[in-house]
Parts: sequence; C-alpha cells; structure tokens
Amino acid sequence: MSNEDQLSLFDISANSASTPPATVSELIPTSAKIPIPPGTYQTMTQMAEHCNQCQRCGLGKTRTHAVVGRGNLQAPIMIVGEAPGQNEDETGLPFVGKAGQLLEKILASVKLDLEKDIYIANVNKCRPPSNRVPTTEEIAACRPYLLEQIRMVDPKIILLTGATAVKGLTNDKRGITKIRGTWIEWEGRLCMPILHPAYLLRNPGREQGSPKWLMWQDIQAVRAKFDEICNAG
Ligand code: URA
Repeated sequence: MSNEDQLSLFDISANSASTPPATVSELIPTSAKIPIPPGTYQTMTQMAEHCNQCQRCGLGKTRTHAVVGRGNLQAPIMIVGEAPGQNEDETGLPFVGKAGQLLEKILASVKLDLEKDIYIANVNKCRPPSNRVPTTEEIAACRPYLLEQIRMVDPKIILLTGATAVKGLTNDKRGITKIRGTWIEWEGRLCMPILHPAYLLRNPGREQGSPKWLMWQDIQAVRAKFDEICNAG
C-alpha cells in the first residue's frame, strides 16, 4: 500500500460513501504526513499497536519494540523522557535501565510511587541508533503519539526530563540548566523541566549546587505541588 493510500485511509472523512470506513487499528502510520488528530485513539493499547507498526520516521526500521509507557494510566503526574535506550528497546518498557532505576529512587525519596502516582513515557517511542539524540524530524513524527498519551492520561503535572523532552513537548529550546525547577504552563497544564537522570549518573557529586542537589530541590517542589493540587481537601 502506498503512502498516498494510507494518507487517504487515515483521514476517515476522505472515504467515499461506498467504502466502509476503515477502523483506526487497520491503518498503519507509514509517513509523518499522515495526520493523527486528537481523539484518534480510545485506549493506550490501541495506540501501542500502531506504535509497534509505525514507520512515520526512520527509527521504525531499527527498533526491537516501540516503547510506549508504563505506570498508572490515570496518574496525576506524567513524566516525559527523551527516547528508549537499549534496555527499553529490548523490553518495550521506558526507564528500566540505570537511569530508570535512579529515577525510581528519586521518586521514592518523596514517596511517589511509579505504579500509582506516575505514568511515564518518552518523546520518541523508538530507540535512536547508538542512543543519539532524536532529530527534529523524528521528534515531530512521534509528537502526535505523545499528545494522545497526555490527552488520555490527563495528568495534573508533567515532568519533562532533559532538554529534548522540553523541546519535544513545548518547543522551548532554552537550556535545561536555565529552566529546570521552574513551573511552566503548556496547554493549561503545569509542567516542570527537571534534569535527566542519566545526567545525574554522569555527575554523581552531592554538594550544594550539584545536579543531584538540584534534583533534590526540584523533586521536593514537585511533591509540594502534588500535595497542594492533588490532595487538597
Ligand atoms: N532515557 C530516556 O529518556 N527514556 C528512557 O526510556 C530511558 C532512558
């Protein structure tokens, strides 16, 4: 099936009256030109089926598994990372390698439970070769999936880990060290840019002003906001 066929198939309104409308799950996203409008998916499972067949960018050719998300699908807090690494590509689950283990420890330090309070996903669902940073085109091709995830989970707070997550969601290209720890509003949602846990692994010092120290400040601010808006009354 050509890209053009897929394009018209995906746009259900473009089907003529004589053609039964294809269901979303029959349609395979083969090009970044194919729109994925808000409300395309009813469930994360349905979206994950698409992600595992997706060829909207070149990363589809080299993935083992698309990595969609894990945690509570109704979580008040969503964490957005950059892209899967090797462990994630092999398991199909985000943040299961060393960076993920550190992230879980950071959350546990303020009594946030990844399975209960958090849903975690990435800007890009497929691993970039050699863990390079995803390109602007790859980010744009995958963005509709992230937007669908945010719509379906409907989190009160979004944590953006690292500059790629900030850029991928909000298009804000400021350096992460400048904006970490500050609340920003995106589409009416409270977002906080935080340092990426992999950066903390490369900078293990704990002195005042170090990446770990900054993360400790930021995660406490997140916990306080969570108590304020999620546990009020
Ligand atoms: N780093 C990320 O940004 N995401 C993952 O899933 C794993 C490591």
